[in-house]
Amino acid sequence: MKKQSVAPSLKFDTKWSYAPAPESADHIQLKSQYELFINGKFVVPSSGKYFDTINPATEKKIALVADANAADVDKAVKAARSAYDKTWSKMPAAERGKYLFRIARILQEKAREIAIIESIDGGKPIRESRDMDIPLAAAHFFYYAGWADKMEYAFPGRTVKPLGVAGQIIPWNFPLLMAAWKIAPALAAGNTVVLKPAETTPLTALKLAEIFQEADLPPGVVNIITGAGATGAAIVNHPGIDKIAFTGSTDVGKIIQKALAGTDKKYTLELGGKAANIIFEDAAIDQAVEGIVNGIFFNQGHVCCAGSRLFVQENIADLVLRKLKDRIETLIVGDPLDKNTDIGAINSKEQLNKIKSLVKAGINEGGECWQSSCAVPSKGYWYRPTLFTKVAQSSSIVQKEIFGPVLAIQTFRTVEEVIEKANNTPFGLSGGIWTDKGSKIFKVSSKLRAGVIWANTYNKFDPTSPFGGYKESGMGREGGLHGLQPYIDFN
Ligand code: NAI
Ligand code: MG
Repeated sequence: MKKQSVAPSLKFDTKWSYAPAPESADHIQLKSQYELFINGKFVVPSSGKYFDTINPATEKKIALVADANAADVDKAVKAARSAYDKTWSKMPAAERGKYLFRIARILQEKAREIAIIESIDGGKPIRESRDMDIPLAAAHFFYYAGWADKMEYAFPGRTVKPLGVAGQIIPWNFPLLMAAWKIAPALAAGNTVVLKPAETTPLTALKLAEIFQEADLPPGVVNIITGAGATGAAIVNHPGIDKIAFTGSTDVGKIIQKALAGTDKKYTLELGGKAANIIFEDAAIDQAVEGIVNGIFFNQGHVCCAGSRLFVQENIADLVLRKLKDRIETLIVGDPLDKNTDIGAINSKEQLNKIKSLVKAGINEGGECWQSSCAVPSKGYWYRPTLFTKVAQSSSIVQKEIFGPVLAIQTFRTVEEVIEKANNTPFGLSGGIWTDKGSKIFKVSSKLRAGVIWANTYNKFDPTSPFGGYKESGMGREGGLHGLQPYIDFN
C-alpha cells in the first residue's frame, strides 16, 4: 500500500494569521482640546495649562487635556458641596436612582463609541473594552441605581446618611470601569463627587461627563477634573472633602494614607497585587492553561488582580509549561482596534520601561526568561508575553508587582507548601485555584490571604461581588453591598 504523505500546509504551524479585522474609528468624534467638567459645564483651567493624551499604539497625540491646579480643585469641591447641600442630599432617593438608571442606559447606547475611545486612549484590545469594560461600567450604574431607594433594606435597623463630598482618584488600567465603580455607589448613597482620571487615559471619563449633561444630572453632582499626581494630591488635601477613594500604586496609596492620618476624612484604597494562580495535578489542564493565559495576559497584565505568579504541582509542571508556551505562541500582539488582537499596547512609555527593568532584574538574579516569538509593530509601546522559570521566592520577579504580561512560574509538592508560598508576598488582593476537588478549593481558599479568589476560572467580575484586598493591597471593598458602606455615615 502506498504510504500517504502529509501535505506541507498541514504541518502544525503556530504562525498562521488572521486577516486584519480593525474596528472602524471613523464615526468617533473627539475634540482637539478638553476642558474641566465643573458644576455641569466644561470650563478652562485656571492654570491655563494643558497636557497631551496620546495613543500608546501609535505614539500620536490624540488631544490636549486641561491640567487642573489647586484653585480648580477648590472650584470643583465647592461645586460638589453646593450640589450636595442644595440638591442631591435633599432629593428623594428614588429620584437619585432614576438618574443612575438614565446614565446606565445612555452608556449602553454609546457603548461602541466609548469602547473605541477607551482602546485608542489606553491601548487595550477592543475585544476587552467592547465586551468587558463598557458593559460592566453600565452594569455598575444599573446595580447601584437599584439600591438608591432601598438603603434601609441594605442596612436594616441602621440610620443611613451620606457622607458628603467624595474625592475619587483612579488609574489607567480600566479607566471608565474604575470611574463607574467609584461614582455609582457614591451617588446612590447620596454623595456628590470630584473625580480625577489618570493622566494617560482621561478621555472616557470626559465622555462620561458629556453623558451626565445629556442625562440632566444636576450641576455639581459629579465634577471631573484632569491632571496628574499634583492634582490628585490637591484633592486628597482639600479640607472640603469627606471621603477619598483611591485605586492605584501601593506607593501613592501610602502617601495618601499618611496625608489623611489625623484628619476625619474616610478613605478606601485599592492598591497593587501579586496573585498566585495554583494548578493542582487533578485540574482540567487545558482549561487551566486558558485561565492562566487570561489571568496574566488579559489587558497586557495591567491588572491589579492579575495572576502574575503561577504555582504548578511538580508532576504536571513539564506538561503545563509546554502547553502554556504553545498557547502563548498563538497570541496576537498588536493593533488594539483589531478584533483579533489578544494583547494590545502597554499603556505608557514609563510603564514599558518599568516592565523592561523588572524583567532585566529577573534575568540578572538568575531567572530563566522565555518570550513569545510573535511580531510586534515597530511604532508604539509593546511587550511580548513573557514567562520566568527557575525563580526563587525571594526573586524580585516573584515579589514585585510588574503590571505587565510577565508570569513567574514555580512548582510545589503539597497543599501546605503552596499555601505558604502563595501567602509569601506583601500583597493580598486575589488568587486562583485549579482543581477537580471541591474540598481542595475550600481548604486552599480559606487559607489564602487574598480578598478575591477564583476557582477554575479567573478575572471574572460582577457588580454584585465585593472586590478588595488584604495587607499592602489596600483597605475597604468596592462592588456589591460592601461597596456602598464606605459612602455611608452610620452615626
Ligand atoms: P499611580 O498610583 O501614580 O497613579 C494612579 C492615580 O493616582 C493617577 O490618577 C495619578 O494621577 C494619581 N496620583 C499620582 N500621584 C498622586 C498623589 N501623590 N496623590 C494623589 N494622587 C496621585 O500609578 P502609576 O504611576 O500610573 O503606575 C505605577 C504602578 O502602580 C504600576 O506599575 C502598577 O504597579 C501600579 N498600579 C496599580 C493599579 C491598580 O489597579 N491597583 C493601577 C495603576 C497602577
Ligand atoms: Mg492616552
